[in-house]
Amino acid sequence: MTKGLKKGLTSYGDPGFSLFLRKAFIKAMGYSDDALERPIVGITNTYSDYNPCHGNVPQLIEAVKRGVMLAGAMPMVFPTISIAESFSFPTSMYLRNLMAMDTEEMIRAQPMDAVVVIGGCDKTLPAQIMAAVSADLPTVVIPVGPMVVGHHKGEVLGACTDCRRMWGKFRAGEIDEVEIEAVNGRLAPSVGTCMVMGTASTMACITETLGLSLPMSATIPAPHSERVRSAELSGKRAAEMAVTGGPRPSELLTPAAFRNAQVVLQAIGGSTNGLIHLTAIANRTEHRIDLAAFDQLGRDVPVLIDLKPSGSHYMEHFHHAGGVPKLMKQLGDLIDLDQKTVAGGTLRDVVASAEEVPGQDAIRPRDNPITPEGAMAVLHGNLAPRGAIIKHSAASPKLLQHTGRAVVFESVEDMTLRVDDPALDVTADDVLVLRNAGPKGAPGMPEAGYLPIPQKILRTGVKDMVRISDARMSGTAFGTIVLHITPESAVGGPLALVQTGDMIRLDVQKRRIDLLVDEVELTLRQRALPKPSTPEWAARGYAHLFHETITQADEGCDFDFMRRDGKE
Ligand code: FES
Ligand code: MG
Repeated sequence: MTKGLKKGLTSYGDPGFSLFLRKAFIKAMGYSDDALERPIVGITNTYSDYNPCHGNVPQLIEAVKRGVMLAGAMPMVFPTISIAESFSFPTSMYLRNLMAMDTEEMIRAQPMDAVVVIGGCDKTLPAQIMAAVSADLPTVVIPVGPMVVGHHKGEVLGACTDCRRMWGKFRAGEIDEVEIEAVNGRLAPSVGTCMVMGTASTMACITETLGLSLPMSATIPAPHSERVRSAELSGKRAAEMAVTGGPRPSELLTPAAFRNAQVVLQAIGGSTNGLIHLTAIANRTEHRIDLAAFDQLGRDVPVLIDLKPSGSHYMEHFHHAGGVPKLMKQLGDLIDLDQKTVAGGTLRDVVASAEEVPGQDAIRPRDNPITPEGAMAVLHGNLAPRGAIIKHSAASPKLLQHTGRAVVFESVEDMTLRVDDPALDVTADDVLVLRNAGPKGAPGMPEAGYLPIPQKILRTGVKDMVRISDARMSGTAFGTIVLHITPESAVGGPLALVQTGDMIRLDVQKRRIDLLVDEVELTLRQRALPKPSTPEWAARGYAHLFHETITQADEGCDFDFMRRDGKE
């Protein structure tokens, strides 16, 4: 097999000259022939001044390079786009597929025998894994690692579950402006990803479970020296994989590996976004995520990880308790241990190496779970023919069966304008409905599903209401919130038919979400809907590609032409 610089040579009839040219140019960087004749490990650079979560990427890159060279191969760092949650207008999800395309094409375009992708902020690991799966080169993933926790007045703070909680206190008048400013400086005390079980942590745990990263790599805090050593080792492993040619993502991502990932997603109380990303990753293989099977796993798999927002600890505590290897050990026969990993062996080896930590309470045993059922349930009903999701582990138990009057917001903007209006006709028993916030509608399915409780209700001490939308929600949020209603309203899904005053019934036990309006009336309303058309924002460029080809949540919100044919 052709390796190193000779890979992907476009010869136009004279391969000798093509290689000669290639070497002539790269030698401008000062490389020797000895360096250029070795197998190459590409390393993505997603450092950006806009991405504090990736603040340690330069140090990790140095460590990976060291590892690659210690193993006798040649590291080549190349840039791809970087996506940080706070600086991704209109939404980070809108950019995920762009990053996946960028990463995939640069892996293909440049000669490399293996690749190390370093990412972490919510959409980056999914994008990089989607790319790696499609390029199918031996790949080691390195999550940048979670932030360490913050402290305020004797309380532990975490981004960004406590961002919302503290802001809620401020909105309710419980803390003043001076205090909220102090909190603002303490919520994200180091580089790294949000240290609660948000999307970043969820995807890092899923990556480790899929065998795409080294054991413990999901949980080692970003600023720890152990993270740097893990990066060095990842570099070494990538160099070995560059020589042997495997394992490739296609060898690791088996149906059993995807099942393991879904078990872990439920057991960690993971982010609902994790399901969309896992679906997108699977759709780039010949395998699929089946929502009904995922829901069934939710009934069988207990939540074992006591992390915010479902529980009380943070990622560093999960790490010191034994991390994902210990979790998989506790999950026992729910995990298929024959799956291979980039560490060289199987999950059986990973689990065998799990550390015993006396007295730890972040990872529970199966006979003493946080909740006997998993974190998420898939709902269906006349409001969500292709499904919706609820993270019931982070919901109010008394609202899991609830019928209430709909209070409809037409869009994120409409909600922003009206939700705190003292004249808004709303009570705590109502169901807040947000629409036009799906993949096409918003665009990019913003994390707007965590509709704020109207201020006048908040002031009465009510902290939760049933809220439903076609949007996503940050994995760091808490509440009785139905998300990803599919099809979305912008493509004529039934959510578009709801009117303020209609009754909506949520029944999580029965896995139902229904609009209690008779069929005849719904048909009339459906007929009266405006015909879908291309909105102004989608007239040109990436926005156009996005609008024309984005799939719904149940298909992972990837572009329809990126999907690989399934085996079903
Ligand atoms: Fe980057 Fe939370 S903002 S992981
Ligand atoms: Mg997030």
